[in-house]
Amino acid sequence: MFQTLSGRFFILTVLFVVLAEVLILVPSVARFRQDYLSASLERAQIASLALEAEDRISSDLEAELLETAEIYNVVLRRNEVRQLVLSSPIPAPIVASFDLRHPSAYDLVVDGLAALFDSSDHVIRVLGDPVRRAGLLIEITMSTRGLHEALVAYAIQVLWVSTAISALTAVLLFWAVRQALLLPMRQVVSHMQSYANAPEDARSIIAPNARLRELREAQDAMKSMQVELTGALKQKERLAQLGGAVAKISHDLRNILSSAQLFTDRIEASEDPTVARLAPKLVRSISRAIHLCETTLAYGRAEESAPQLEWLKLSRLFEDVVEAEQLASEGKITFTRTVAEDLQLRADPEQLYRVISNLCRNARQALEATPGQGQIDLSAADAQGHWWIKVQDNGPGLPERAKNNLFTAFQGGTTKGGSGLGLAISAELIRGHGGRLSLEKSDAQGSIFSIELPKANN
Ligand SMILES: Nc1ncnc2c1ncn2[C@@H]1O[C@H](COP(=O)(O)OP(=O)(O)OP(=O)(O)O)[C@@H](O)[C@H]1O
Ligand SMILES: [Mg+2]
Repeated sequence: MFQTLSGRFFILTVLFVVLAEVLILVPSVARFRQDYLSASLERAQIASLALEAEDRISSDLEAELLETAEIYNVVLRRNEVRQLVLSSPIPAPIVASFDLRHPSAYDLVVDGLAALFDSSDHVIRVLGDPVRRAGLLIEITMSTRGLHEALVAYAIQVLWVSTAISALTAVLLFWAVRQALLLPMRQVVSHMQSYANAPEDARSIIAPNARLRELREAQDAMKSMQVELTGALKQKERLAQLGGAVAKISHDLRNILSSAQLFTDRIEASEDPTVARLAPKLVRSISRAIHLCETTLAYGRAEESAPQLEWLKLSRLFEDVVEAEQLASEGKITFTRTVAEDLQLRADPEQLYRVISNLCRNARQALEATPGQGQIDLSAADAQGHWWIKVQDNGPGLPERAKNNLFTAFQGGTTKGGSGLGLAISAELIRGHGGRLSLEKSDAQGSIFSIELPKANN
């Protein structure tokens, strides 16, 4: 209970209210004792009036008068003469005298508490002014028992009342603080938790609604913090996407430039002196561009833009890819194409080119690293509900690491100089077409990557 704010507040309220009641009790006890003793003096004076009326009274009457007033004897001082007015035997010696005429507050408090807690029966002397100036001084001897009992009864009564009041006050205060502070605070906390779950969602930013000024200020501060944070997160996300996009563009741009470089190599051999002179410069420019692409490839990936679908002739696209790859393989690899000349499908030509080119490039690189005559076959056909395209090679199959991280950016690459992005990009591009790129087979006899493009959403 002491760990929660409400529990702590409840306990503290009870403690403080009890403390306040005790502070009230102590002076009340002193006051009560003072009143009690004054009343005793008054009663003694009234009893002694009987003596004024009659000169001699019987000892029986005297004893009765004293008993009614609950005192042992009374001394009146008039005109400097000390006169024992009423008397009865005192059962024990007098232990203390109290002068009620000019008591200090401190004495009253100390004597009051002593009378409350000392339960033994003593005989005390009390001095005070007589009522209505009937003499100079009145002095009585009395037992403390009556006083003690009356004080205890009074204190118990005060304590009961204070307990009831403190309990009521504590409950009311507790309720008020709970309504005004704890509930709004809990709302703010639960809001913070829901914001933490989706900080990039602008809808979860707090809408300040507290009526308490302090709480409102906290909410306002939190709102501006959340607005800033959400903005920063969004910007970061955009930058990450931009970085990813740049990486992908660089990747495929590098491949395209590599092909361009190969073509340019041929141009260098041209008879035309102008062409021969400019060609090396062109080669160098392209090399620099390739280098730039490669250095950019350290960035993350993001969603590709939606494909721009159009009808395209697949044999044409295959031809483009093969031509570039053939050039790169320098004739060491045989390319075959198994596709109907008029097969048409709907796809984004640029993106599909990038995919098939990536697959061929991978196959070529794998074949180049192994001895023997390499063979790459591109095939495609129309099937029920979809088109399929396959890129098959007779290479060594995918290394274990590549297989385990298939289609994961930056993870599966094992080729030197490769970035491990090619397959991840290709898979994403095909997914963008609603299709699927998969590794159909990979063993010592070779690998087959297959693409399935659905006709339904075309
Ligand atoms: N046909 C294949 N035969 C053997 N291994 C392959 C084949 N295709 C892909 N791999 C393996 O899969 C890995 C991942 O290919 P991926 O195209 O994703 O990256 P990369 O070729 O290394 O780099 P880049 O991003 O430049 O394409 C390659 O490093 C290679 O080891
Ligand atoms: Mg590759």
